[in-house]
Amino acid sequence: MSIIEEVKRRRTFAIISHPDAGKTTMTEKLLLYGGAIHQAGSVKARKAQTHATSDWMEIEKQRGISVTSSVMQFNYNGFCINILDTPGHQDFSEDTYRTLCAADAAVMLIDGAKGVEPQTIKLFKVCRMRGLPIFTFINKMDRASRPPLDLIDEIEKVLGIKSYVMNWPIGIHGDFKGVYNRQAKQVELYQKGQDHGAKKAALTVTSLEDEALAEKIGPSYQAELQQDIELLDEVGESFDLEKVRAGLLTPLYFGSAITNFGVETFLRSFLELAPSPLPKMSNEGLVQPTDADFSAFVFKIQANMNPGHRDRLAFMRICSGQFTPNMEVKLQRTGKILRIVQPQQFMAQEHKAVSEAYAGDIIGVFDPGNYRIADTVTLKNESFSFGDIPVFPAEHFARISPVDSLKRKAFVSGIHQLAQEGAIQIYKEYGIGTETYVCGVVGVLQLDVLEVRLQNEYNVAIRRQMLNYHIASWVDQSEGEVDLDTLNLTSTTMKVLDQDEQPVLLFESKWAQDWALEKNPKLKLLSIREK
Ligand code: G4P
Repeated sequence: MSIIEEVKRRRTFAIISHPDAGKTTMTEKLLLYGGAIHQAGSVKARKAQTHATSDWMEIEKQRGISVTSSVMQFNYNGFCINILDTPGHQDFSEDTYRTLCAADAAVMLIDGAKGVEPQTIKLFKVCRMRGLPIFTFINKMDRASRPPLDLIDEIEKVLGIKSYVMNWPIGIHGDFKGVYNRQAKQVELYQKGQDHGAKKAALTVTSLEDEALAEKIGPSYQAELQQDIELLDEVGESFDLEKVRAGLLTPLYFGSAITNFGVETFLRSFLELAPSPLPKMSNEGLVQPTDADFSAFVFKIQANMNPGHRDRLAFMRICSGQFTPNMEVKLQRTGKILRIVQPQQFMAQEHKAVSEAYAGDIIGVFDPGNYRIADTVTLKNESFSFGDIPVFPAEHFARISPVDSLKRKAFVSGIHQLAQEGAIQIYKEYGIGTETYVCGVVGVLQLDVLEVRLQNEYNVAIRRQMLNYHIASWVDQSEGEVDLDTLNLTSTTMKVLDQDEQPVLLFESKWAQDWALEKNPKLKLLSIREK
């Protein structure tokens, strides 16, 4: 196959959701339909067990969770699909956000009974910022759910995106009957499976005109369905692929991942509507995925927690060209030529050596310490670069210091190294004589990782004092420097400088943030910093 054909058949996306909406279940069902697993239940089991796959992550083993997001690849109907995992729960971290920088589309999974939840909002904002096309799957329709129009309204009001209903649910009070597929103009009947949908399910379809439909879904549901469809056709959004691709309109599907209902229909529709790998902006203009020259950027570094194995895994998203094993590439930041010897690709439970990869694919490269987040790797000329990955706002803060003050030098070098790698954000307190450090993280688990890594790699034990801040905002300096000393702030608001000496304000609450904006009319705050 040519590079053009390989690129065209690729789809790289992330599933975003609030914990418990059913992301693991959905991922597993997609793998089931893609033939990557033969029986659902295995990914789930992996989630619960201490697993053998990521043995480089000691902390992962101890806790039985996945600390950093990984990627899974499978084939379906001639498409090559890369699903980027964005973990929820306590393992939510900056990696979760950064992973979205490596995706070309996002699938937003919503629990039909709960609607839009906080973590979904956070992840959605990042997708929005990147202009990613977003596909919405309203899950758990086999149970009682909120009225579909309510959910659509909430998505529009809370997230600010209009939706196009692809299929419409019948029976939302725990008596789910199926959906009406608006594209195929057919009713798809729900059949309750016995085994949590461990095996693929066959789909039973019928038409709206079918005389036996009333018997199948009940006469009142049939009448209601007809009205609903007419209403949707009249007042609903019209379908516009350009708007979908621009992230302005989200195709909306209803289904039940656990019973497999609607999963395959969703997958087929998604593959048809979602874009193949997109061109990526560099300092030399747009790089087309079909360009022959190899280029990639690092979006995640997974450190080895085992002191016996200092190596890490750098995850790269390929942007153009073809990757072949033992390829020599140049790390643009240092100019160093590196041979990529043993890259890994991840497939359901195991990882395997990569024999070839194209734009849209993610490879994990063993890294003795060469790479940093946002590094550009290519064979192109000296100055070529894809630029930085945005810095996302931390939500948990701790003042950190070495237990043994004689180890201060190793401590400072350790935290700077880890901050550069993207594992944590560090700030210096502003206007304080001695240098005290505040560490900011998106997920609290990053603090545990910090502690283990400083101990293992720098032989430094740390003390941490959690601080009661929840919001970090960068002070916008684009229209001239702001004098931090003259800002009128609440007594508890903390002024700090980030790794690049950029001013940041740490607020205890939204109220304190609003206060700052009100008392300082010229102050502009940024929640995400585009470097
Ligand atoms: P997550 O990765 O987003 O956190 O969610 P996960 O897939 O683990 O699903 C969370 C819970 O929701 C699980 O129940 C799962 O079985 C259930 N679930 C997922 N999809 C559906 C669905 O379509 N319908 C219904 N009714 N439930 C669904 P659990 O009790 O936590 O686990 P388990 O006992 O089922 O394994």
